[in-house]
Amino acid sequence: MTATAYVNGAFVPLAEARVPVLDRGFLFADGIYEVVPAYGGKPFALREHLARLARSLRELAITNPHSEAEWAGLAARLMEQNGGGDCMIYFQVTRGAPEKRGHAFPVNTKPTVVGLCHALPVPGEVALRDGVGAVTRPDIRWGRCDIKSIALLPNILASQAAFEQSCNEAILHRDGRVTEGASSNVFAVLGNSVVTPSKGPEILPGITRDVLLEALRAAKVPVQERRLTLTELRSAEEIWLTSSTREVLPVTKLDGEPVGSRKPGTLWKKAYALFQAKKGTDLFSPPPVPPPAGPARK
Ligand code: PDD
Repeated sequence: MTATAYVNGAFVPLAEARVPVLDRGFLFADGIYEVVPAYGGKPFALREHLARLARSLRELAITNPHSEAEWAGLAARLMEQNGGGDCMIYFQVTRGAPEKRGHAFPVNTKPTVVGLCHALPVPGEVALRDGVGAVTRPDIRWGRCDIKSIALLPNILASQAAFEQSCNEAILHRDGRVTEGASSNVFAVLGNSVVTPSKGPEILPGITRDVLLEALRAAKVPVQERRLTLTELRSAEEIWLTSSTREVLPVTKLDGEPVGSRKPGTLWKKAYALFQAKKGTDLFSPPPVPPPAGPARK
């Protein structure tokens, strides 16, 4: 099946999908994105992902080009055209392509909307059986990491450092506190409690994080959203990463040192099972709405 992309109102073969070189996403990384996981062709926690997308746009004063129903319709069409199943839907919105380059916001420029759909790369059997490695890296990002901006250079450099050490993720820290992973949120088991850094401008408010926290609380597992120090992380009995593509992934090696018992822990097993159960419940069946016509180009 030929992969299909969505660009400003049209579904086109992925290999032919284009945006202009003057697009502010290309020139300035002036845009935002979302990654929505879907299971069996149904988006998971779609409303939460669309709420975060809307918030990211609001924070950057980019007009949200679509209603929630239109985004849902677009997700459905993208899945339909790309074979459905377990997949990840990628949406990107930039401030658009004006007639010339300039730092200040252009006037009367329509946002550029791109949609993609790929297979969902959930962790395999070995990663779940043995856990994965992570490295720690200084967090050199900007002060608004709560916005899901497409400006990801520090994240990419940290991810590459992890990859070069055969690790799954880089865990970022600033002034002695853990912030998050380069593309995930971080959880640590300390004593009987599950600790994760509080929300704020230093971290992305992960949807998987929130879903898992709710499930843990409902199961009466003690959880704390608070400052997590790097020292605490190094002495944690368990470390987990959460994201739409990793789900809940155990880290068993940190900077080459074993974490806890060197095996995915008992609380992780519980958390993983709780998350798998959640996956079956918050699936969104898109309403039968026509796909968006797409913004008229300037
Ligand atoms: N990344 N923190 C960062 C910096 C992220 O990039 C992500 C997700 C998360 C987890 O968020 P969520 O649980 O909503 O997926 C936390 C996506 C998957 C990506 O960039 O591909």
